[in-house]
Amino acid sequence: MLLPPPPHVRELLARAGQPEVLRFWEQLSAEERRLLEAAVKQLEPGVLRAHCQEAAMARHREQQPAPNTHRHMKPLPGEVTGSSARTEPQSLRGWRERGFHEISENRVAVLLLAGGQGTRLGVPYPKGMYDVGLPSGKTLYQIQAERIRKVQQLAEERLGKKCVVPWYIMTSEFTLEPTRKFFAQHNYFDLVKSNIVMFEQQMLPAVDFNGKIILEQKGKIAMAPDGNGGLYRALTNNRILEDMDRRGIRFVHVYCVDNILVKMADPVFIGFCVEKGADCGAKVVEKAYPTEPVGVVCLVDGIYQVVEYSEVSQETVEQRNPDGRLTFNAGNICNHFFTVDFLKSVTEEFEPQLKRHIAVKKIPYVDEQGNTVRPEVPNGIKMEKFVFDVFQFSKKFVVFEVLREDEFSPLKNADSAGSKDTPSTARRALLWQHYRWAVQAGAHFLDSNNMRIPHLTRLQEAEEPPAVCEISALVSCEGEGLEEYLKDREFHSPLLLTEEALTALGQCQ
Ligand code: UD1
Repeated sequence: MLLPPPPHVRELLARAGQPEVLRFWEQLSAEERRLLEAAVKQLEPGVLRAHCQEAAMARHREQQPAPNTHRHMKPLPGEVTGSSARTEPQSLRGWRERGFHEISENRVAVLLLAGGQGTRLGVPYPKGMYDVGLPSGKTLYQIQAERIRKVQQLAEERLGKKCVVPWYIMTSEFTLEPTRKFFAQHNYFDLVKSNIVMFEQQMLPAVDFNGKIILEQKGKIAMAPDGNGGLYRALTNNRILEDMDRRGIRFVHVYCVDNILVKMADPVFIGFCVEKGADCGAKVVEKAYPTEPVGVVCLVDGIYQVVEYSEVSQETVEQRNPDGRLTFNAGNICNHFFTVDFLKSVTEEFEPQLKRHIAVKKIPYVDEQGNTVRPEVPNGIKMEKFVFDVFQFSKKFVVFEVLREDEFSPLKNADSAGSKDTPSTARRALLWQHYRWAVQAGAHFLDSNNMRIPHLTRLQEAEEPPAVCEISALVSCEGEGLEEYLKDREFHSPLLLTEEALTALGQCQ
């Protein structure tokens, strides 16, 4: 017998102006109907109507000549900026001490943004599970987990107190289950399970250019995560700030999943922000070249913002200062500092004001005959919020510039897609960094004829280091503590420096 759609579902969609979502209802199986009903019931009609109308209007606006954002752009004023390379060692030491102090007092958490679909990389699992081909075979999640363990250990050693840096992980419908399973399979990488808090961000329907919800199957709405700025809504929905309060957390280091060099709860960055009395901060690197696809942190009409690479004119990105440096050179590396109080003010007051960004995409859909179509040109809109759009609400905003070779090598694209931001560039960035640490600690590498390999400095991204050396984060976070084991010793490549290898080296000294 053919059952009509339940009245409350019909009514909800009618109120949202989306009755067409039910057009295949009669052809759906009982299970498909149940799932569609469940998906629809999660949507609030007024919000859904506004979302669809807004998407269509945003698309219309986007087709108008672009406003000249760059006309109002100003580079960051010196007084809000600190730098790891241009600061006296004494100040750096002070910030590091302050950071470790806060960590040892259990006041610092890290928060990973891992709800993205990683479409550019093109793997059917969360990016954090990706193995870029290091000798150890470690995934991004494992590398990050080990860096958390190490920073806790270093804080404990310095201040003599056991401490915890909780790891909050924002996932989405796409990434939650596989991430959960992966962590369980790997025994939470030897972190305490209750100190890893996974939560889910919201999904929003994708709509076509007329503001109509796209069905990806006859009974399935095409949904997408609401951008990494969905964080703030997700913090509220999942009561995460309450969890932070319970644990006594005051400062949060938010970062994105794909940067293989990310410094977890970086004590220097935390210490810098805390000492400056900041409620919100961003880490940046100097842009490598004018068209590098990173957002730039700057002022727009007097307000701190990140202007995404897609939103700036060629003329602006190429603008240079008299010293030859790019005028807009503060490249956003998606590493942010927030106080919990600031996050509260955002979630309680400012979240609804966050800008909605429109992403025009190719979204698979069902045609009127019910066949799945994979469009070759963009046919739909996903609406996203961005994590950095809260800078404008900060009472004291600071920026900290770090060296790219130490802290930034993102994994965005597949190797097949080109030479930038790929598994190969990420792997090489990490191996070069560890090679540098080993050489600075006094190690020498030997070739297969037992001849010393001359030390080299990295000149080009595409180059492999002269010797392969991978140092576990459990051994060293930033190259510290290696000298006593490596100085004046010779090693064959590849050298995999694990905790066990280090113990063995210590014994044969
Ligand atoms: C991001 C930054 C960009 C910066 C670049 C550096 C944003 C909006 N843009 O760009 O300014 O220069 O990193 O690498 O931050 N994510 C979610 N939920 C979503 C969408 C994304 O959690 O709905 C997460 C991703 O899993 C990832 C992070 O946000 O960890 C960044 O997302 P991605 O799409 O990779 O941003 P980019 O465009 O590369």
